[in-house]
Amino acid sequence: MVQFCIEKGMKDLKIIDLRSDTVTRPTKEMYDAITVAEVGDDVARDDPTTARLEKLAAKMLGKEAALFVASGTMGNIVASLAHEVRGKEVILGAESHMFNMEVGGISVLAGGIARTLNYPGEVPDVKMIEAAFRPADIHQVRAGLICLENALGNGRVVPREVMADVYALAGSRGVPVHVDGARVFNAAAALGIDVKELTQYCDTVSCCLSKGLCSPVGAILAGNEGFVEKARAYRKMLGGGMRQSGVISAAGIVSLEVMTKRLLEDHENARYLASALNGMDNITVDMEAVEINMVFAGIDKSPAWKAALPARLLERGIKIYGEMSRGFRFLTHNDVTRQDIDRFLGELTELLAM
Ligand SMILES: Cc1ncc(COP(=O)(O)O)c(C=O)c1O
Repeated sequence: MVQFCIEKGMKDLKIIDLRSDTVTRPTKEMYDAITVAEVGDDVARDDPTTARLEKLAAKMLGKEAALFVASGTMGNIVASLAHEVRGKEVILGAESHMFNMEVGGISVLAGGIARTLNYPGEVPDVKMIEAAFRPADIHQVRAGLICLENALGNGRVVPREVMADVYALAGSRGVPVHVDGARVFNAAAALGIDVKELTQYCDTVSCCLSKGLCSPVGAILAGNEGFVEKARAYRKMLGGGMRQSGVISAAGIVSLEVMTKRLLEDHENARYLASALNGMDNITVDMEAVEINMVFAGIDKSPAWKAALPARLLERGIKIYGEMSRGFRFLTHNDVTRQDIDRFLGELTELLAM
């Protein structure tokens, strides 16, 4: 990269990080809030800033109570534990983060049996879920939890009506619904509705503060008071009881109060990036699939060219991950501006000609 800066006559080059929205840096407002955060011992339930974050999160998500946890993964595993899925089936998408990317915690820690469904386009299909319920028979395992994800890891948003149908079915079978809402505020922003319009169709929801919402650490798990009390004990069991957690909760409050309101800017930048990419030779983007801040692009170049792309871009100050099953993934977020996108497009155009 130093060589590239010298060649282009640049002194400093901003690193543009398109790998994920997990890379976002805390904002100045977060650093300011952190420096004046009132703290206590949250395990003893007297950290006022964490209590304020949890109250705010519960209110915004339309639930009775909420718990501050270390990560989205911790929120989901604590949810599985508190829903007591041991020896029961957990019905969830075959491509879902909870099944694929959380190290098997549903089974290893919570004792649940993953019943994965291959939904077309990854959007939950209520008929498939209905068919997954087993007959009441002594030989058969019972369903203990249905997990949905919104927004999906493929960048699509699950419509409110689909969530409503799944929730109605689950209710009729007496099975709770948990939503992995790592990006549920993105989903709501994309649909142009309040997040409560989505979270009304689940019993419990987890949501990340450290992705597009820019907190350095943390996630929320929300549900009714009894569930959250159980979840608090399971969080402690996992070693997730935190002491002066107000230091990081202070950033979480800024995430919820301020950063949730600007997500559409990331979505617009993603559409801008996607349509420019789609107009380039050798690149295809399914524009309909660009609903939040995620862009997946197919690049029609040799395997060697594609394998070298992340390193070539890194030399030019741009970070991306290597090709995934869904293609190359680019995420927009608070630290990526329109000018950054234009710079990325310029560099990519040069590399495509090679
Ligand atoms: C859909 C989804 N759920 C859960 C998580 C887990 O979040 P964390 O990385 O905070 O554990 C992620 C992280 O990327 C995610 O994309």
